[in-house]
Amino acid sequence: MPDNTPSKDTKILTADPAGLTRAAQLLQAGELVSFATETVYGLGADARQGEAVAAIYAAKGRPSFNPLIVHAASAEAAQRYVLWNGWAEVLAQAFWPGPLTLVLPLRPKHGISGLVTAGLETLAVRVPAQPSAQRLLQIFDGPVAAPSANPSGRISPTLASHVFAGLNGRIAAIVDDGACGVGLESTIVGLAGEAPILLRPGGLAAEEIEEALGQPLRQRDVQDPLTAPGQLLSHYAPNEQVRLNAAAARNGEVFLGFGAHQGSGPEDLNLSPDGKLTEAAAHLFDYLHQLDGLGRPIAVAPIPDEGLGAAINDRLARAAAPRD
Ligand code: TXA
Ligand code: MG
Repeated sequence: MPDNTPSKDTKILTADPAGLTRAAQLLQAGELVSFATETVYGLGADARQGEAVAAIYAAKGRPSFNPLIVHAASAEAAQRYVLWNGWAEVLAQAFWPGPLTLVLPLRPKHGISGLVTAGLETLAVRVPAQPSAQRLLQIFDGPVAAPSANPSGRISPTLASHVFAGLNGRIAAIVDDGACGVGLESTIVGLAGEAPILLRPGGLAAEEIEEALGQPLRQRDVQDPLTAPGQLLSHYAPNEQVRLNAAAARNGEVFLGFGAHQGSGPEDLNLSPDGKLTEAAAHLFDYLHQLDGLGRPIAVAPIPDEGLGAAINDRLARAAAPRD
């Protein structure tokens, strides 16, 4: 059975203390909960639980893994996961809580699943202003990964009824808190490089950000294939050669297995010995990193191209693509 088949009884929770406490318990249990933010409804999961994050992709039917935004209750809470800097301090003071996402270097021992960052060394963090989202994040007291709560390729939801129409049966609950005030995703600013860069225009005007920073934002160069959405800028590429659909490792290769395709070397890994695609997705980036660190070419077992397997194969195809 594909792992995005509707099978859950999606509950509608009210944005009161009882509803938000229930929502936090569901997140702790590794379930998916949609909640209102001032921008759009998010589809939340505990960012530390790889299988919960994998379930986000399964529920949305996303054809590929994009890095996700981690939501925190405060700038202090966000700093548990990222390395802070002067620009971040200025922008957080000026615009958090609010429709602004900051991309910063991951902090050592951050605890965030590699599937959230798609294997990158940076993390997108945001402190939403919606009071019910704030309360939920305070009660949960941990990082919540949340893309917009729409099936892949559909428009972003700004009402609980939009979420229900798109994801009923695929997620545990929706916290209904009415209409989203901003209605447009957050503006994303990259602060991990030499100068602040506008990665995605959104609910906060770039001019306001430039005024707070006292300097212009670098613009993402859409002509440059390396910075186009979904390309290398936001995807981890292994250093070593990657060979796909391999039944077994050849001489010198290290093996990344799946199901019964199991390596025999001491350093070989298996994405999911039971052949579970959610488990495989949860391990994908961490295992690629580990194997890449060995400095040997990587052979990867065949992955079924259904459900989350399509996104895993999309990512593996990028990892295996020829490059200079
Ligand atoms: O308003 C919003 O931002 C909503 C609400 C729910 O908070 N969330 C949202 O998430 O729009 P999502 O997953 O649809 O968009 C995440 C975007 C992606 O386009 C991704 O490329 C970018 O954030 N992103 C995430 N992490 C990144 C990173 N480390 N570096 C560069 N871009 C990153
Ligand atoms: Mg989206």
